[in-house]
Amino acid sequence: MTNLMNVSYDTQIPNNVGLSSDKRVLKALEKWHPGYINWWKDLGPNGFHESQVYLRTAVSVDPKGWAKFDYVKMPEYRWGILLAPQVEDRRIPFGEHLGEPVWQEVPGEYRAMLRRLIVIQGDTEPASVEQQRFLGATAPSLYDMRNLFQVNVEEGRHLWAMVYLLQKYFGRDGREEANELLRRQSGSDEAPRMLGAFNEETPDWLSFFMFACFTDRDGKMQLESLAQSGFDPLSRTCRFMITEEAHHMFVGETGVGRVIRCTCEAMKEAGITDPYDINAVRELGVIDLPTIQKKLNLHYTLSLDLFGSEVSTNAANAFNAGIKGRFRETKIDDDHQLKNSTYPIMRLRDGVIVNEDVPALSGINMRLRDDYVRDASGGVRRWNAIIEKLGIELELKVPHQAFHRQIGEFSAVHTTPEGLIISDDQWKDRQLEWLPSKEDGEYIKSLMKPELEPGKYAGWIAPPRMGIDNKPGDFEYVQIQDS
Ligand SMILES: [Fe+2]
Ligand SMILES: [Fe+2]
Repeated sequence: MTNLMNVSYDTQIPNNVGLSSDKRVLKALEKWHPGYINWWKDLGPNGFHESQVYLRTAVSVDPKGWAKFDYVKMPEYRWGILLAPQVEDRRIPFGEHLGEPVWQEVPGEYRAMLRRLIVIQGDTEPASVEQQRFLGATAPSLYDMRNLFQVNVEEGRHLWAMVYLLQKYFGRDGREEANELLRRQSGSDEAPRMLGAFNEETPDWLSFFMFACFTDRDGKMQLESLAQSGFDPLSRTCRFMITEEAHHMFVGETGVGRVIRCTCEAMKEAGITDPYDINAVRELGVIDLPTIQKKLNLHYTLSLDLFGSEVSTNAANAFNAGIKGRFRETKIDDDHQLKNSTYPIMRLRDGVIVNEDVPALSGINMRLRDDYVRDASGGVRRWNAIIEKLGIELELKVPHQAFHRQIGEFSAVHTTPEGLIISDDQWKDRQLEWLPSKEDGEYIKSLMKPELEPGKYAGWIAPPRMGIDNKPGDFEYVQIQDS
């Protein structure tokens, strides 16, 4: 019997799913592998192929010690297929099959639905790597460069995770979908990535940190609800992905936090008390807080769009089927079937934003988004604590959920960040008070100069409180070799 806690390295693809005795899937994955490596080289991090990066690699799925840290060249990273251990006698925790044993094979009636969800999740993983591919060249430190590459290789592994499910459980069309995942490309006109936020640019490091904080957090919520799935292989896959995802949000949240700290400290030192005196703050070579607020507004709202429409039949069907649950489904105290319950959603009614109760099944997306909003607000609170501690009078705020939306109820109107509906003309006049302008972007870009000396940080970002893997401050996280 194979020990599911340990990862087998006897095939080209590290795994804890017994690949060496599953010749059909092993072959399919080995066939897919070269295309993946080509994708990494063409559309993954630009350059740095020869550099030694101090990365963590998953070597076990034991929560107490699943990763090992070492120098590795990124194209040689061991992307593995790792599923969290099987839970004995696990039962479907929600929907119309509540209490039945979980499925180890794809139930025929839900095949299309499952495939769609896996493909959508899978599509986001390589997309973010593509979006971030040019950032290595302007890393504010080797520490940050290493964190970027860590996130990138793990998103690559998440792609592997979804491709494994497609190859193992969906036969020929699974194979085709696996190939499509390498064909679509972030921002492409002919074959864009499937979701809007994943076709946006990530032009600078503040964008990257905001993305990791807000968009990776959407990823976390999606994984959390797929981890509840009655299709056990999907549940186990997502459970392990969530462990890795925590680091991505750490990178995002502490990254923005360090930018904020640097700005506030520079203001204090220069005796600037008015955070809205943007020119004076920019003179100091740091990013003013109002611009940080605009970036927050942008990334937060793009991420809200990823939750889909407030009222959704697809989401209701997936819940009913036992395929996609709610955030922390098993900890919720209700019937887990939502037959007679309702959920309050925000709607537009005759030009006014109102709360309205809808059948809880149709409000599943809204519920997940509400959980997301709570989770994301915690991060913003911690940023505000930094600002307050340094004595600057400004509070960052998450905008109203109707602000700057492309999907759902509020895509039909414009509002202020406070949620006040305004006319198209007012929006045109004022949107650059709330969203980053071209000039804001150019200013941030002007700061993006690489700092490659170990232990040094660019002037617009504070050093982290602690190193990765307890390494000292001047540790050389990336040994750069030209490639
Ligand atoms: Fe991911
Ligand atoms: Fe992520």
